[in-house]
Amino acid sequence: MTLRLSAQVGVVGAGPAGLVAACVLGAAGVDVCLLEKDSRRDVEERARAGLIEHRVAEYLEGRGLADGMLADGVRHAWCDMVCEGHRLRIDYGALSGGAAHWVYPQQSLVRDLVARAAAAGSPPRFGRRVRAVTDVDDRPRLLGDGLEVVCDYVLCCDGPHSLADSLSPGTARAFRYPYDWLTALVAVDRPVEGVTYAVHADGFAGLMPRTGHRARLYLQVPCEDRAERWTPDGIRAAFRARAGAAADGLPAVGEILDVGMLRMRGMVRDRARLGRVLLAGDAAHVLTPSGAKGLNLAVADAADAARGLISWFRDGTGADLAGYARRRATEAWQVQEFADRLLTLLHLPEGAGSDPRFLLRLRRERMRHLGRPGPQGAEFAHWYAGSGRAPDPRGPVGVPARMTDRAELSGHGEGNGPHPPPFVPH
Ligand code: APR
Repeated sequence: MTLRLSAQVGVVGAGPAGLVAACVLGAAGVDVCLLEKDSRRDVEERARAGLIEHRVAEYLEGRGLADGMLADGVRHAWCDMVCEGHRLRIDYGALSGGAAHWVYPQQSLVRDLVARAAAAGSPPRFGRRVRAVTDVDDRPRLLGDGLEVVCDYVLCCDGPHSLADSLSPGTARAFRYPYDWLTALVAVDRPVEGVTYAVHADGFAGLMPRTGHRARLYLQVPCEDRAERWTPDGIRAAFRARAGAAADGLPAVGEILDVGMLRMRGMVRDRARLGRVLLAGDAAHVLTPSGAKGLNLAVADAADAARGLISWFRDGTGADLAGYARRRATEAWQVQEFADRLLTLLHLPEGAGSDPRFLLRLRRERMRHLGRPGPQGAEFAHWYAGSGRAPDPRGPVGVPARMTDRAELSGHGEGNGPHPPPFVPH
């Protein structure tokens, strides 16, 4: 027997994009049906991203979705770049005039959002795979096993293997980078205080903070390398060699808790809207992990879509929805360009040759520019921290208690460079 439901907005996927949209729409009184193929436990235990950029933190806080992050997250406003034994601190908080990240694991955020979505009247339905979306130009239908949901709008937040593949084949522009990243969740003997990026002739290595005595370690590896090929000792040794002398100042990497491979690719779909189906998050674009932009852009999409849909249901004009696809494409390309620029800095090109010293020295020079007050440093800092304006229609968001150092910092970089665009124009 088929269960037949109707909803104003059908959301596919309970990742950060789908959950934020469900929370915001539900809180505005929009009737939402969120379908997720995996179990609640699987969704809430997926350890992935962990750096929440400034504007996204403000947005979540303005919507009452950041209690966990404010209670347990930690603010980070600098990163280190290491090359040829030299460590260079990039104080992007100062260079951007006070913008910073929150370090808060994605799985904790997802757990908070699942609870909030339920409280907002939009509880996710777990274990419900959507097999197809039909009638995209009229009243779209979500079809699952024994389930049919008729909607006014659908928001596809179903990740990189989206149903959008079949709705709009051939609309994705994609690039496969000529290397992959090994990613490992590791135990550390003390909390990691900031992100470290190390450029080395053997390849890139990185260490990112997570909670307490956990960190995420990255190593550049050849394309299609397999996790089984790496032993814990091999991972620790490669990291030490690539970080060089800077490794001495970092927390010691202990147990390797989990190892995987990130296939490094970028993708943007030409259109983030197909009739009455909007795409958000990885369904619309896939980013490499450099710069930690995937989660943040997913929330930005969800915020834009939610704002447009709320206006559509309130006044019926859909004025805010009209530019959705154009705004999302514009921002997706801007963020891809930033992530690609960072990757170019962090990896030597193929064919760097047997003597890469020239290229390494050039990278040090570039890092020095990024760490200095001035247009290049400010531009990098604003993009890295995601300093754009929060799109809360209720007005500016108050400065969080732990950001009271903003006034002190503002003299260093405010106004020195362009801000990233706000993710929802007013
Ligand atoms: N039916 C129902 N659910 C589906 C279907 C389907 N056909 N296909 C996928 N899903 C679910 C997945 O199980 C997953 O929970 O959609 C969800 C997609 O979530 P994410 O992959 O986290 O995508 P998104 O919300 O766009 O967030 C992506 O978060 O981890 C960061 O940086 C990372 O860029 C990434 C961002």
